[in-house]
Amino acid sequence: MKFAKDFLFGGASAAYQVEGAWNEDGKGISNWDVFSKIPGKTFENTNGDVAIDHYHRYKEDIKLMAEMGLESYRFSISWPRIIPDGDGKINPKGIEFYNNLINECLKYGIVPFATLYHWDLPQTLEEDGGWTNKRTVKAFVKYADTCFKAFGDRVKHWITFNETIVFCSLGYLTGGHPPAIENNPIKYFQATHNVITAHAKTVSHYKELRQFGEIGITHSFTPNFSVDNKEENIFAAYHANQYNVAWFFDPVLKGTYPEYVVKQIKEKGWTPNWTDEELEIIKSSAEKNDFIGVNYYQPARVIKNDNQQVKMENSRENSAGAPGNVSFDGVWKTVRIDNGKYTKWGWEIAPDAFLDGLRIIKNNYGDIKIYITENGLGDADPIIDEEIVDVPRIKYIEAHLRVVKKAIEEGINIKGYYAWSVIDLLSWLNGYKKQYGFIYVDQKNNLNRKKKLSFYWYKHIIETRGEDL
Ligand code: NOJ
Repeated sequence: MKFAKDFLFGGASAAYQVEGAWNEDGKGISNWDVFSKIPGKTFENTNGDVAIDHYHRYKEDIKLMAEMGLESYRFSISWPRIIPDGDGKINPKGIEFYNNLINECLKYGIVPFATLYHWDLPQTLEEDGGWTNKRTVKAFVKYADTCFKAFGDRVKHWITFNETIVFCSLGYLTGGHPPAIENNPIKYFQATHNVITAHAKTVSHYKELRQFGEIGITHSFTPNFSVDNKEENIFAAYHANQYNVAWFFDPVLKGTYPEYVVKQIKEKGWTPNWTDEELEIIKSSAEKNDFIGVNYYQPARVIKNDNQQVKMENSRENSAGAPGNVSFDGVWKTVRIDNGKYTKWGWEIAPDAFLDGLRIIKNNYGDIKIYITENGLGDADPIIDEEIVDVPRIKYIEAHLRVVKKAIEEGINIKGYYAWSVIDLLSWLNGYKKQYGFIYVDQKNNLNRKKKLSFYWYKHIIETRGEDL
């Protein structure tokens, strides 16, 4: 089977991780500009001041993408570049930059897929409570409206938010991301609800503008599986899926939060301050979503947590699903499994779990269109005779693309695949050591770009539409 002509082979990035130019051309300061400069917060105190200088080199980068045959580029727009103080004046230079970037994509026939929020919040809003303050919801809708009006004639694919669970849980539970608040479920649930509300309002607004493109949200998807058939572990995995999957997918695709969680957080006094009007807009906007974006890297293997002491994980080496994390409510924890394959950063490599996860999405949410908006391997790439021979990345993406093919054959409605990342970029907490790209960026040599082995491999896959996968 070949992938259909309307299936998009893409690659992704995010503004803070690639652009640099943190204080140029009228850009406002973001929460990440501030947070990353607090000593010890990131690996070797790396920050996005320069990143990979995509702001100045986007032409060179997009040319390389075109050479690779990339059909679509998923990038994010930096809110503080567009509206420097969050909800005040628009910065024309910011609009100009994204106009240029979008036009450059179109010049090569690359479909621009824009994410409105990939974690860099204007610092003014962060200081006023960030996502726990409803001012940010209102500000986001205005910012989104600005982007739709400026770019919507050419951008027909929009993602509102990237990985709400990640920026909210690291922001308010483990403290690994700004605003670095730990162990605060009240703020966490308020922030998640405010983001979901902002999403719902934005989707409705976009439809009112009648720009005839598509809009959705991207969720981090870490399906939780019990390690065995013990009832207590099966229950632990169910609980994990309710809090970490359903809490985010249900309001977007079904229009209501999962009852199981709603009931428990009420008992615990964690219910967000939500109004009937907000719950109503969440309900009425659900059917307006055109797609769901899914970022999949790994599953979580779950057991019941017997240890009474709740350990809040704040390790930059760990992600939500990675083994060794105890859930914030102390109910479950993630473990390594025997015979599991793991990356250098301890993330499980499990394409089978990806297929199971996609089946679960179809079972729970029906035929909603799916884009795999991120998937890829973080590695310290091998360099032999000055060539970047990233064979493990090729193997990883190959196995996951096979799953996408199989899923489509089973009738799961997947319309595109975006490798993370199109080019090496700044990892939020891990600096430049952890690479994901098809294009290498030489940190020691003027940020020169170089094609990796995977570049040629992905080009071939796209040319042949995955026929020999
Ligand atoms: C998900 C995030 O969206 C992206 O920004 C990050 O770099 C990758 N995961 C890899 O951790």
